[in-house]
Amino acid sequence: MSVSLMRGAVADLTQAIGHTPIVRLQRVAEDVESSIYVKLEYLNPAGSMKDRVALNIITDAEKRGMLGPGGTIVEATSGNTGAGLAMVAATRGYKCIFVMPDKMSKEKIDALRAYGAKVVICPTAVEPSDPRSYYSTARRIVEETPGAFYSNQYHNPANPEAHYLSTAPEIWEQTGGEFDAFCAGMGTGGTLSGCGRYFKQKRPDLALIGVDPIGSLYYEYVKTGRLTKPFSYYVEGIGEDFLPSTMNLDLLDEVVQVDDKECFLMTRELARREGIFTGGSGGAAVVGAIKYARSLKAPKNILVLLPDSAQKYLSKIFNDEWMRSNGFLADDDTEGTVAHVLKHKPHRLITAPRSATVRDAIQIMKEHGISQLPVLDENGRHCGIVAEIDLLNFLVEHAGALDEKLTGLIESDYATVTPHTRIALVRNIFNDAKVVLVVEADRLLGVLTKIDIIDYLASHRG
Ligand SMILES: Cc1ncc(COP(=O)(O)O)c(C=O)c1O
Repeated sequence: MSVSLMRGAVADLTQAIGHTPIVRLQRVAEDVESSIYVKLEYLNPAGSMKDRVALNIITDAEKRGMLGPGGTIVEATSGNTGAGLAMVAATRGYKCIFVMPDKMSKEKIDALRAYGAKVVICPTAVEPSDPRSYYSTARRIVEETPGAFYSNQYHNPANPEAHYLSTAPEIWEQTGGEFDAFCAGMGTGGTLSGCGRYFKQKRPDLALIGVDPIGSLYYEYVKTGRLTKPFSYYVEGIGEDFLPSTMNLDLLDEVVQVDDKECFLMTRELARREGIFTGGSGGAAVVGAIKYARSLKAPKNILVLLPDSAQKYLSKIFNDEWMRSNGFLADDDTEGTVAHVLKHKPHRLITAPRSATVRDAIQIMKEHGISQLPVLDENGRHCGIVAEIDLLNFLVEHAGALDEKLTGLIESDYATVTPHTRIALVRNIFNDAKVVLVVEADRLLGVLTKIDIIDYLASHRG
């Protein structure tokens, strides 16, 4: 092999990671005054921004002596991080073993195998602590495989560091820092925590906006500090049902909630009207940026990161039959939204201040015939609910303590939605959560229980 590198070439594929373009959206965000720019991370060699993460995780492990020649990288991931790790491993001669749940698509498994990785499939319907779960299986493989390194993107600081060292400085150099807000989906938090740390050091007033799908726990946790029950949703790569240590929520200025339908419709629009071929989490990030833009008093430059490619979602988001059968196409919206149910519901919103006593709460609930009471903090923001059962348990255990403050009884068994959330989705949410709080722009608009939905549907079918 000749020693000098040919002009115009890079020495290996890892050097082709990054250097992705930033493009201004022309049409899908026409109705906002702000300019929305997108960074096309799907143009990375293995198809996503996780290539940067994979490269940094592997390089960091090599430096720490945790990964050496002939070593094996083990990861419990299904998607983009897997592809990135498999690609970088191929360039450096490492083996890869991916452990994933059985619900993963055949295309994703085949793509990892194409890079020469071994894929171990585990049952989805078991608890994380079960020895058959994919977390437990990954740990067992690491213990049993000589030279194994568990890359663990949810708890490996090299994940956010990848964005601090690569994505953020690249963006800063490309733009000269001429943007006012950075908007990205919230998954492991690698993107937001890594880029956020860099941007805030450069410009503390730059706004950092996280986008979270309805069903994930981030939004409610940021707003109230409560870990409410997560429930399932379709958009892939963003939202979590636990708090990964790679996420630094303190950096965020705002979290915007999005739902599957608006994310998928935007993902399709981006391809059709802008030629931008990104996946569902890219659509989600653009929806989040537009919502944020609408909340602004003066126009800003908003930069949005588009994590991966539409290619992986052709059989779902870009398939009309799949979209229709899941109720995501516009003409299927016959049942209406949460706003319709709220309008139909006769009584006004009843709440209690956080400073209220148990006696006050009982009085309010009795007076209005309600069995769940949202509690508001000093700023008028909701901070949880108190339910009949909480009061009952409290009174049985603490005889005569009616003048105790409500604070200790506030609980998290609720889900938060927006007025635009479809009734079909709320029905699914009620499989997991007892009560639904309707919130927009940090303001609690209403409380829904199953009977409110039943009553609304019955009166519109009658
Ligand atoms: C498609 C997609 N979008 C968004 C994200 C979220 O990025 P991060 O993990 O950096 O928060 C991921 C991460 O897994 C992803 O795969």
